[in-house]
Amino acid sequence: MKTPKRSRWVSGIGVPSEGRIRKKEVVVMNNPVLENLKTRRSIRKYLPRQVEPEKLDLILEAGTYAPTGMGMQSPVIIAVQDPQSVQKLAKLNAKVMNSSSNPYYDAPTILLVLASSQRGTRVEDGSCVLENMMLAAHSLGLGSCWIHREREMFELPEGKELLSQWGITEPLTGVGALALGYPDGDAPQPKPRKEGYIVKVL
Ligand SMILES: Cc1cc2nc3c(=O)[nH]c(=O)nc-3n(C[C@H](O)[C@H](O)[C@H](O)COP(=O)(O)O)c2cc1C
Repeated sequence: MKTPKRSRWVSGIGVPSEGRIRKKEVVVMNNPVLENLKTRRSIRKYLPRQVEPEKLDLILEAGTYAPTGMGMQSPVIIAVQDPQSVQKLAKLNAKVMNSSSNPYYDAPTILLVLASSQRGTRVEDGSCVLENMMLAAHSLGLGSCWIHREREMFELPEGKELLSQWGITEPLTGVGALALGYPDGDAPQPKPRKEGYIVKVL
């Protein structure tokens, strides 16, 4: 049997270490999934370049494979690229935030996640969808940022009006959204992980 390839990773950072392994470094199997989730960062500056349909579809599909309470698939993902609708959403979110800036950081694509108001696990379900899509986006070289206030947005008449224009009639609660696009510049460094984040009872 072939010996699996090993590579060197700095524990907690997920970037290849330089040269020889230092004392505190932990050698793990080269695992692209772990690397992807450790190197994803919230991106807050985007190029105007639009996300290609093929990549968009892969990200949306990844969202649909998120776990959901009782497997009920309560969320609905709305992908918005039409510039007028993107602007309307930015205005509505800014209104909830009482701000004049664009809460979606001028990203060319917005992915809204709402979930059936009838499901008790709607927030958890929608959150899993959002995380799946952020990780999928990162794996495809795209940047994303979770943007808040969708619950309030879709409680407002303007938000309800948008849903009805998009042909959505079932009662949905906003969970969150992603700003999505090509990052303009380097991703920020992650903050160190807090003390006591993990408790092991072994
Ligand atoms: C529930 C939730 C709401 C968030 N809302 C916003 C937001 O409205 N605007 C924003 O810029 N970032 C928002 N973020 C992104 C966080 O600020 C970000 O994840 C955090 O600072 C850690 O950075 P990282 O994602 O690069 O690891 C949100 C994240 C979560 C999970």
